[in-house]
Order: sequence, then structure tokens, then C-alpha cells
Amino acid sequence: MAIALALLVIVIGSVLFHLVTPWWTTPLASNWKQMDDMLAITLGVTGLFFVVINLFVVYTVWRYRHRKGQRAAYEPESKRLERWLIGITTVGIVALLAPGLAVYADYVRPPGDALQLEIVGQQWQWRFRLPGASGKLGGSDARFVSGTNPLGLDPADPAGQDNIVVLGNEVHLPLGRPVKVLMRSHDVLHDFFVPPFRARMNIVPGQVSSFWFTPTQPGRFEAMCAQLCGVGHPNMRGFVVVEDEATFQAWLKQQPTFATTLAAATGAPGTVLDSLPALGRSLAQSKGCVACHTVDGGPGVGPTWKGLFGKTEVMVDGSTALVDDAYLKAFIRNPQARAVKGFAQVMPKIDLTDDELDALTAYIKSNSSASVEKVQR
Ligand code: CUA
Repeated sequence: MAIALALLVIVIGSVLFHLVTPWWTTPLASNWKQMDDMLAITLGVTGLFFVVINLFVVYTVWRYRHRKGQRAAYEPESKRLERWLIGITTVGIVALLAPGLAVYADYVRPPGDALQLEIVGQQWQWRFRLPGASGKLGGSDARFVSGTNPLGLDPADPAGQDNIVVLGNEVHLPLGRPVKVLMRSHDVLHDFFVPPFRARMNIVPGQVSSFWFTPTQPGRFEAMCAQLCGVGHPNMRGFVVVEDEATFQAWLKQQPTFATTLAAATGAPGTVLDSLPALGRSLAQSKGCVACHTVDGGPGVGPTWKGLFGKTEVMVDGSTALVDDAYLKAFIRNPQARAVKGFAQVMPKIDLTDDELDALTAYIKSNSSASVEKVQR
């Protein structure tokens, strides 16, 4: 009897919770209202089965409860009952899956005039690329990836030269225009997800996954990674800014093209990488250091680089060490050799040439000196 009552309370409580819960989806900001409809159908079908099955159990527990002198009859087979159960389950599962298949077919078939947006995931940051005036994205390959070419674009491909390479983790999109998203990963499984767009998809290393959406609300939307991809996973955030076409075009004009970033990488005076710390800053982004180390003193998986150089670091075993060039280089070369107090020992070994190590160290150093403003800008 107690079991029947408990089940009844769970059923009524669940339905009430569903009706009064404050935890609903964020307001929709894309064309994918169908995703919300699918969610409603799933909740409806599974909710109905949940209520009916549990109420049936409540009824049988009460109706056939133990009474003195009564004996249970054993009826292992009932063709009629089986036909009913198979029929109802089939209808339920078709209702769950069929509409979703139709929506998915739409989801991966973008309109012909869609703007292309490439998203590249890497532990633990997002990068973006948009086509230039030609409207085409150039080819890419893992073997081209370097500190100055973090997207791995083919330097010999003419179609890639005018491509817009977005520096940083924020991309802008025009309001009301369909966007075809093409996604690559440099390392492990990631998943680009902007909840208000209701759009997400896994990003599998070695292949390009794709979906499309049309932003329908202006604003700045936070993007997250929706696949557990390592210790920095919760830090793998980005932003999508949706704005009117004119503002978008103005923003687009300020972004460097692939050709410009390549020229800058040669370190010509006056370009963005004309100093060792600036090169180090670019490396810190391309190698993913920034996912765990802040430069503004904020908390991270690893120590912030603000004021790190020259500081005395305390190890787990109680010993101390002065953070100088030698310390930084030794630590980056072999991150597992020492354990800094207050931080998990999770830093991966990163492939760096001696020159790259010099640049990275110079950048870390610059975050503790007066030149900090100049470099970060
Ligand atoms: Cu990338 Cu989680």
C-alpha cells in the first residue's frame, strides 16, 4: 500500500513540477522553432507513458493486494495483451522518432544562398573563419597548422587568401541571413552549441560536420562546448554577436584576411607580430594555453600569467621556486615534473620549438611588466 501511495505522489509531483518549473529553455533566437516542438513532443509522449504506466502499477498494487485465503492465478501468455502492447509501443516510438527525422533532414540541408561560417574547435577554444569577397572558403589541412596559421589553411590555395580569419573567440553574424556552419576539430570531440539558436552538432576530428540556422534576434549569445573534451572543457566558451547587415559589414572590414595574417607572421615592422611577446601571445592562443591561463589575474585551471614572472611559487611538497626564464622553460617542457600548490597537475606537454618557447616565455614575462598594455592590445 505504501508503495502505491509513494508512486502516486511521484506521478502527481512530477506533473506539477513540469507545470510550475522556472527552468524553461532560453528565448528562441533562430529559425529552429521545430527543435522546441520536438522537445514538446518528446516530453508529451514520454510524459504520457510515465503517467499511464505508473498509475496502472498503482492500481494493480491496490486492486490485487494481499488478502487472506486468496491465491494468485498464473497466466504467462496472453496473445491479445501482447498485440495491444506491441501496437501502443510502436505508435509511441514512431511519434517520438519520425518528426525528428524530418526536422534533421531540414537541419543539414542549408538554403543555397547561406553565408558560410567555419568553426574550428581545439582544446579549449573556438576559432572562426568567414569567406571573403569571393564567397569561397579555401582548403585546409592539419599539416598546415602552425602558430601563425592556427586554422591550418592551405597557403597555396588562391580561394583561401581573402578568407576572413577571426582573431579571438567572438564572431559576428548578420541578422536574418541563413548561415551554413562547417565545423572541424584539431584534436578531440567537441560540440558547438548556442542554446538560444537551438542548434548544435558534434565536431569529429578528421571530418567536417555541418548544419545551418538563421539568427532571428539581435544580441550577443554565448556559445559553449557540449562534449566533455578534457579538463578545460567548461572554459571552452565563445560568443556569437548577431547584428544588422551594415554593422556586420563594418565589423567584417576590420577583420584580417588570411593573406594579411600570413604577411604579419613574417614579423615585418609595424605588423601585429613584430615582437617576441606578440609572437608569444599568438602562440598562447594557437596552442590553447589561454584556455587555462588568464592574463588579467582572473582564476583559471592553471595560474594566471598576470604578475607570474618574478613571483615565488609554492609547490605541493612545501618547497618554493622563483619564477624566472629557466623555471618557465623547464616547466613548459616538462609540466609533470613539479606540482604547484593549489593547482591540479593536468597541464599537457606541448610541442614547441626553442624559438617558440622563447616567444612564449617572453609573452608570459610581459604580463608582469610595464609593457603589458601594449602587448595585450
Ligand atoms: Cu570542447 Cu568540451
